[in-house]
Amino acid sequence: MQNKHEAFKNERSIHTDFKEKMTYSDYLGLDTLLSSHHPLSDHHDEMLFISVHHVSEIWMKQILHEIDSAIRDIQADNLSTSFKKLARVSQIQAQMKNVWDVLSTLTPAEYMEFRDKLGNASGFQSYQNRMLEFALGYKTEYVLKIYEKDPELLEILQEAYDAPSLYDVSIQALVRAGLPIDEEVLNRDVRVTHQSNESVKQAWLTVYRNVDKYWELYELAEELVDIEDLFQQWRFRHMKTVERIIGFKRGTGGSGGVAYLKKVIDQYFFPELWELRTEL
Ligand code: HEM
Repeated sequence: MQNKHEAFKNERSIHTDFKEKMTYSDYLGLDTLLSSHHPLSDHHDEMLFISVHHVSEIWMKQILHEIDSAIRDIQADNLSTSFKKLARVSQIQAQMKNVWDVLSTLTPAEYMEFRDKLGNASGFQSYQNRMLEFALGYKTEYVLKIYEKDPELLEILQEAYDAPSLYDVSIQALVRAGLPIDEEVLNRDVRVTHQSNESVKQAWLTVYRNVDKYWELYELAEELVDIEDLFQQWRFRHMKTVERIIGFKRGTGGSGGVAYLKKVIDQYFFPELWELRTEL
């Protein structure tokens, strides 16, 4: 089933009726895809800069597609069906992390030759990154303001912001398995980032101490930890690559640059799954 986000993306792409003579290029929309590089300078390395962003955005689209579906699986108690999708997310994240090795071949001097052409454009405005953070449960209302000038996009983001996260539906699955969770967590406003809660930690601890009995929940928890671990590795490599290329200059998006990126690394999506490890 095509979700609202996919329909939105497709509406903005070229429609071709290729029932008769479909080619490889038609099927993949390569004309659109490969004509999406619009360098603003004559510098050789700007193309690499654009390509790594494109590759990252395409993978984010796939991740959102997988997580969206996994959330519905978990809500329907089809945990085993969600595992393949969540494992795929981790594999994609591993690919996304490798992008930094390629981008690190861009030297500070090379980047400085076209950086001023970017104006205020920044990955900070990546709406797919925000949708991903929302899907994982990190809800920052202030980022919605960035998209106020694009009501259609804002509506998509608002919907993602208002929806329960992957972690919210996982906690609901703990309840359905008979594990007690505080009412304040169950009735909480899902538009606010989840904060660590003792009953949630105790429920996950029960799962980890009784792996045979709660095998599927245990598997789910480890899939979530994989995703968070890789997300943090991506953030760390981004921060170090940024430091390597621009040092401690301010970001084009207006933040403190590396100082801001370091702060974001401290954010947990699934805090109890990390805390419980000390107590096992
Ligand atoms: C030379 C390469 C890059 C530099 C110097 C750079 C720099 C920065 C800086 C300084 C920020 C903080 C916001 C700001 O003030 O602009 C930021 C945010 C961000 N960048 Fe990059 N970046 C680079 C490449 C990339 C790539 C390839 C991606 C892939 C999509 C990316 C995605 C993001 C995202 C998603 C954020 C928001 C992070 C958050 O708010 O947690 N960046 N970047």
